[in-house]
Amino acid sequence: MTNHFISLVAQLAQRSISPSEFTRVLVQMGFGAVTIQSVLDSVTPAKSSSRFEPFSPQTPYEQWMSREGVPIHTGYSIADVRALEVTPWARMGAKGAFIDLEGSEGTDGAYLCQIEPGNSTQALKFLFEEAIFVLDGEGESAIWHEGGEKQTIRWKKGAMFSPPLNVWRQHFNRGSGPARLVSFHDLPVVMDLFHSADFVFNNPFVFRDRYNNEPDYFELNESKMIGRGSAAMFNEAERAAPKKRTIASGLVPDVNQLELHAAPSRGLKNKGVEMVFSDNTIQTHISEFATGSYKRAHRHGPGSQIIILGGEGYSLLWNDHPRYSDAAKHMRVDWKEGSMFVPPDRWFHQHFNGGEAPARYMATTWIGGKYFAKSLGGGGRTHRLNTISTKDGGNMVDYPDEDPIVREMFEGELSKRGLKSQMPR
Ligand SMILES: [Fe+2]
Repeated sequence: MTNHFISLVAQLAQRSISPSEFTRVLVQMGFGAVTIQSVLDSVTPAKSSSRFEPFSPQTPYEQWMSREGVPIHTGYSIADVRALEVTPWARMGAKGAFIDLEGSEGTDGAYLCQIEPGNSTQALKFLFEEAIFVLDGEGESAIWHEGGEKQTIRWKKGAMFSPPLNVWRQHFNRGSGPARLVSFHDLPVVMDLFHSADFVFNNPFVFRDRYNNEPDYFELNESKMIGRGSAAMFNEAERAAPKKRTIASGLVPDVNQLELHAAPSRGLKNKGVEMVFSDNTIQTHISEFATGSYKRAHRHGPGSQIIILGGEGYSLLWNDHPRYSDAAKHMRVDWKEGSMFVPPDRWFHQHFNGGEAPARYMATTWIGGKYFAKSLGGGGRTHRLNTISTKDGGNMVDYPDEDPIVREMFEGELSKRGLKSQMPR
């Protein structure tokens, strides 16, 4: 009991449990109200300690990340998130790291969490959305509203799930090796708007409209296949066919087992599916394209957190002009399973399958899937122009309009590996 009490006081000091949760547990342990209040008065840090530096070139989210004391991985891309350094993270009670790539531009971000065998994270709740993808290992998560009943969900490599907004969550490793999770989240915009970690991590509001402990909330069944797909991913003609291309669920047991739907407007031999977890504004899609093919170039706002699920290839990224050679800035990202990158705001980008197997990526974006947003970022206004040609005022470059150097580069890459292009001349 003494160890449990000390651990609870430590969690309270770190603000990893709320004063109300601390009180609830101590009442259950038999402590009296006066004792509990005196602990709260002495342990809860003064509010001023959680204030961020004003008039700083660092955003509140950047300042908060620095204070958490784990590595912050930056740049335009990550070669393999499965191999990134993680270090002990007190708030999480496990190892972790942040991934803050250039193209996130303060909209959304990612963090890694690695739980060793037999261990668990701290119980946490917070006022930002996250969709968690299991990179490795297996385990389970307990999820509950403050004072409510727990649901326990099981996951393993390939699963994706989202504890609903501001619910308590605790993750347990149930396997024999480390369990590594990557969370895609919208904390940057939330922290920058409210600039209060206290508000984000100690907020009592319960979003019962998003989650009310429904028994099948974290089950993928027929009732979770809800829509024909968005304009960002499927053009009007593709969406006319009554297929269920959008999944709305608390959990998908294996994102690699989902049925994909033809999406030729985004690229030859391209297919995909969309996912919205837990009534979130953040949203995810998967895209797969055949060997010897590449997608049409397109552009949109910041914050599409792309992770490669399988295959090998590369992406070209460039700014301002639909023709690659005319751009002032160019970038090439080579990728394989576990690579991550985020195309910068309104940069054109184009994905090329350079390997012998289908290439598959998954992109999570901060806003505008289930709930439309007119902001330039995320799946908002600019994403809706993804399937419309730049000639018609959209953001997609038709194959005939692209810079010929793009095709030459692709054929050159394939020939190095003895592969042939499947793209029509
Ligand atoms: Fe994109």
